[in-house]
Amino acid sequence: MSMGAPNMDVLVSLSKRRGFVFQSSEIYGGTGSCWDYGPLGVELKNNIKRVWWRDFVQQRADMVGIDASILMHATVWKASGHLDHFTDPMVDCRECKHRFRADHVDALPWVHYCPATKGNKFTIPAGEPCGHCGQRRTLCPNCGKGELTAPRQFNLMFKTFMGPVEEDAAVTYLRPETAQAMFVNFDNVLQSMRLKLPFGIAQAGRSFRNEITPGNFIFRTREFEQMEIEFFVNPNDRVDGRPADEYWHDRWIEDCMAWFRRYGLSAENLRLREHERDELAHYAKRTVDIEYRFPIGWSELMGIANRTDFDLKQHAKWSGKSLTYFDDERKEHVVPFVVEPAAGVDRALLAFMADAYREEEVRGEKRVVLKLHPELAPIKVAVLPLLKKREDIVRTAHAIRADLAKHWRVVYDDTAAIGRLYRRQDEVGTPYCVTVDVQTVGDRERGETGDLRVTIRDRDSMEQVRVPIAELGAVFRELLDGAPWSQVSGRYPAPVTKASGP
Ligand code: GAP
Repeated sequence: MSMGAPNMDVLVSLSKRRGFVFQSSEIYGGTGSCWDYGPLGVELKNNIKRVWWRDFVQQRADMVGIDASILMHATVWKASGHLDHFTDPMVDCRECKHRFRADHVDALPWVHYCPATKGNKFTIPAGEPCGHCGQRRTLCPNCGKGELTAPRQFNLMFKTFMGPVEEDAAVTYLRPETAQAMFVNFDNVLQSMRLKLPFGIAQAGRSFRNEITPGNFIFRTREFEQMEIEFFVNPNDRVDGRPADEYWHDRWIEDCMAWFRRYGLSAENLRLREHERDELAHYAKRTVDIEYRFPIGWSELMGIANRTDFDLKQHAKWSGKSLTYFDDERKEHVVPFVVEPAAGVDRALLAFMADAYREEEVRGEKRVVLKLHPELAPIKVAVLPLLKKREDIVRTAHAIRADLAKHWRVVYDDTAAIGRLYRRQDEVGTPYCVTVDVQTVGDRERGETGDLRVTIRDRDSMEQVRVPIAELGAVFRELLDGAPWSQVSGRYPAPVTKASGP
C-alpha cells in the first residue's frame, strides 16, 4: 500500500540523513541558498548528467559538446543583453532591512499588528485581509512595521574582478547561464568539426545568479548546474512543410518531455506551459516551459526557447567577427536560428527524488523506498553478508563487491541485521541487494560444501531469487541495461528460505 507524495521537509530530512544534500558550511550556520551534494547526492547528480549527455550528445550524430570556462570576456554580457536586462525588481523594508522581489511580495504570508485587537500580532495568509480589522497588507510582510521602498531593478549577475587590481576595467561576471559559451564558440565548433546544419552544441556546468529570494531547498539557489543545448537550424529550410526553427522547437519539446518520463517522472506530474507574449525573454520568439508538480506546487523544471538569430547577431555586432553559416545549396551566408532546451540539474534531481519517494506499508511496518530509475540510482547493488562473524561469508561478500564494482557503484554493508540493511538500501533507491549466506559457502564443520549461489533481492517487488555467483555480472548487466526483473527472475529459483523478511 502506498501512502502519498512527500513534502519538502521530508525530502530535506532524507537528503541530510542519508548523505544526498547538506546545507553548505553548516558548522558555521550555513550560507543562504547554497547546498553541498554528499556521497549519494554526487552519484545521483553525476548519473543525471551522464544519461543526459549519453542520450542527447553521444548517441546523436547531430550533436557535439563543449566545456567552457565560467569567466568570460565582460563584453559577452553586454552583447547578450544580460547587463541591461537580466534584472529583477527588488524592494527593501525601511525597518528590518529585509529584501524582497517586488513581484513576489503579494505571494507571501504577512505579519500584522491589528488595531482592532489592541495591536495583537497575527500572521495572515498570502493575499488575504485581516479577519478582525479587514486591512490588507501595505507594510513589510516580514516585520509588519516597516514601509517598503519603491521597486529598484537589481542585476542578478555576480560581479568579480579579473586579475589583482579591483578597477572598473577588470570587472567581469560569473556566468548566469552556460548558453553564451555555445554562441561565442559557434564558429570554432563549426570549423573544427566541419558540421552541417542543423546541429547542436551542448554543455553541462555551473551557473551563478544572485537571486533576491532564493529558497525551497535546491529549487532556487545562487549557484547551480545547468544542462543546455543550443540547436542551430537554417531559417530558410522547411521541415514537414513548416519553418525549420518551429519544427525543431516542437521536436525538442517532445524529446525533453519523453526524456523526463523515461527516467521516472510520472505523466500526471508533468505539464507544458507556453510563455505569454509579455513574459517572453528579450531574445525569444516563443518559449515553452516543462513544469513539474514539485512539493511547492507546479514550477519550472526546464525551458525550451526559440532564441532566433538574436545571440549570433549580437555577438557578431559586438565582436566584429562574422558568425554565419555558408549554405552550400543556396550559395549564401545565413545566420542560423537557435532552439534552446535549457534544464537545471538540481531541479531535475529534486524532481526525480520527489517522484521516486514512496512510503509503503509492508506487513504492518512502514517502508520508505526511493523508486529511482536504476540508471539514476546512486548505488546499483549492495552486497550484504547474512552472518558477519563467519569469515568465509564476509570474504565472499567482499570479493563479489570488488568484482561488481569494476562496472558499477557497489557497496558492502554488515552494520545491522539483514532486514534493517534492506530498508536502508530501499531508502536510498538501491535497485538490487545481494545476500551471501551459509548455503553459499557451505559449512565445513558439518562437511557441507556451498552451492556458490547468492540471493538477489529486487527493491520494487521485494522478490528474491538464487543466482550462481559466476552469473552475477551478466545478470546485473541485463538488469541495469533495462531488462525487467520478471525476465531475469523467471530463469532462477526462489530461495528455499528467504534471506529474512521481504
Ligand atoms: N539559457 C537559458 C536559461 O538559462 P533559464 O530558464 O533561466 O534559461 C534554465 O534557466 C533552467 O536552469 C531552469 O529551467 C532551471 O531548471 C535552472 N535554473 C535557473 N535558475 C536557477 C536557480 N536559481 N536555481 C536552480 N536552478 C535554476
